[in-house]
Amino acid sequence: MTPARDVYGFEASAERAAEKLRSSSSVLVVGHIDADGITATSIASLALTRAGIPHETRSVKKLDADEMGRAEAHPAQTVWFVDLGSGVLSKLDPDRCVITDHHRIDPSAAGEWPGHVNPHLFGLDGSSEISGAGVTYVVAKKLDPGNIDLSALAVVGAVGDFQEAAEGRLIGYNRVILGDAASLGLITVEKDLRLFGRQTRPVHAFLQYSSEPSLMPFIAGGRGEAALDDIEDEDDRMAAIDFLEDLGITIREKDEFRTWSQLSFEEKRTIISALVNRIIDSGKGLPMVRRLIGEVYTLSPGLPGAPADWLLTPIDGPTDKAKGDLWRPSAKVLLDAKEFATLLNACGRHERAEVGIQVCLGDRREALKVAMAQQDDHRRKLRDAIELVKNSPDFQARTVTPEGRVLRSIRYFHGGSSIEDTIVGIVAGMLLGSPDFPSDRPLIAFAQAGDGSCALKVSGRGTREMVRNGLDLSSAMRSASELVGGSGGGHNIAAGATVPEEREEDFLLAIDLLITVQLSPSA
Ligand code: C5P
Ligand code: C5P
Ligand code: ZN
Repeated sequence: MTPARDVYGFEASAERAAEKLRSSSSVLVVGHIDADGITATSIASLALTRAGIPHETRSVKKLDADEMGRAEAHPAQTVWFVDLGSGVLSKLDPDRCVITDHHRIDPSAAGEWPGHVNPHLFGLDGSSEISGAGVTYVVAKKLDPGNIDLSALAVVGAVGDFQEAAEGRLIGYNRVILGDAASLGLITVEKDLRLFGRQTRPVHAFLQYSSEPSLMPFIAGGRGEAALDDIEDEDDRMAAIDFLEDLGITIREKDEFRTWSQLSFEEKRTIISALVNRIIDSGKGLPMVRRLIGEVYTLSPGLPGAPADWLLTPIDGPTDKAKGDLWRPSAKVLLDAKEFATLLNACGRHERAEVGIQVCLGDRREALKVAMAQQDDHRRKLRDAIELVKNSPDFQARTVTPEGRVLRSIRYFHGGSSIEDTIVGIVAGMLLGSPDFPSDRPLIAFAQAGDGSCALKVSGRGTREMVRNGLDLSSAMRSASELVGGSGGGHNIAAGATVPEEREEDFLLAIDLLITVQLSPSA
């Protein structure tokens, strides 16, 4: 049962955690490797540095027995788990740990103890209204109100976890955090097109590669899949350029393509009206317009730790010569919350979480350079993985188990060792949101675990509609994996697990049954 909403209780629990940290002589911060985990780790680290508390940070893929053992053996007095920990609460030592997390809580644990801060305990929804970075920020602010300037990083964490996706804007406690950041001028909130690449993509590429929703069908009357493939598609590119030129938009200034963020208000309005008209004419109507237009979050270049003039001394990333144009992924990636989060994911998901942390701590030179190169690599890997599942028979998504049993409620694919276990969940989410991939069932994705063990990494993704109909992937993933000797958890809309390789069939049957029950009308 969900407890009554109690923001005061939530903040009081953050105060108790801050107290515990304040009296610690040394701390080990352990965080998750995704954008939310990296921003959470950075917020914790900055707050501890400011409080003069010696500490180290460690970024982990998941909190398994090995990682818990490592934390236990570490000499630090206190271990601060950020963006993870709640799911394995019964295995952690309440005397030594602080946990700032937003995942579903281990059902076999007494959730409330001093040092455990989780919105679910107080009727706040951790999957939509506050992220791991957000919870960590609330504790940082209790440690010292001066840490209010860390709020912008918490917004990046929330956006990294898709918390603005459902309503087209941040909701719930995230609005308090957003208000903190806006009050310091660290973030500007605008209503705009909610597409990726406002700050860095040439405006025609911004439209051409839009994926949520894909705009090319309205611009070219053509194919939608270019959305997910960064593969150059000359027809779409020309169609996007023609569309803009017909509207009288100048796409190139001096020798540089203009980005969406460089257009004037009037120019944006002209383009948006034309797009909206075409969408309405197509009969797709308001739901798509609602997905397209919403809040976007522009970050100030002056985040904590960043040198004052870093944006005036541009750091070139690798040029994209394959595109044959002047586009350079520029350092302006850090001016958009979504792009910033993607940059951090690109670091963390490919074993360079420490680079992402350095960027969050203010490094705008070497770390930013490495991070931008990581981003190119990340994009390529995502594109290749999506291609594989869409076009290769060996990898395609199925509704029949390997042993031939029909699944009633899920679809799955197996990335084997061809898709890294750290990105298989992102791939599943992108496929489920892709216009030419079926979204009538939750998608379960497997990949060989990257640690050399004989285990499988599982990622599950659902849609908001499925959640409204009863889907809770976190509980299904936890129960089905435990049944076959694995472990898992997460959120209702997105969850993950690790299971023994030889139990794939049993796991599929179990999770299919659990989800069938969740989604049956009488449940
Ligand atoms: O571990 P963590 O909570 O940070 O992971 C959340 C993940 O859930 C994100 O990486 C994102 O891929 C996924 N998600 C999603 N759709 C949502 C919310 C979250 O795919 N609406
Ligand atoms: O790894 P993936 O992106 O699929 O993770 C989705 C969600 O499930 C994340 O919130 C992650 O923290 C959670 N998860 C978990 N236990 C695992 C794997 C993932 O709680 N073994
Ligand atoms: Zn998170």
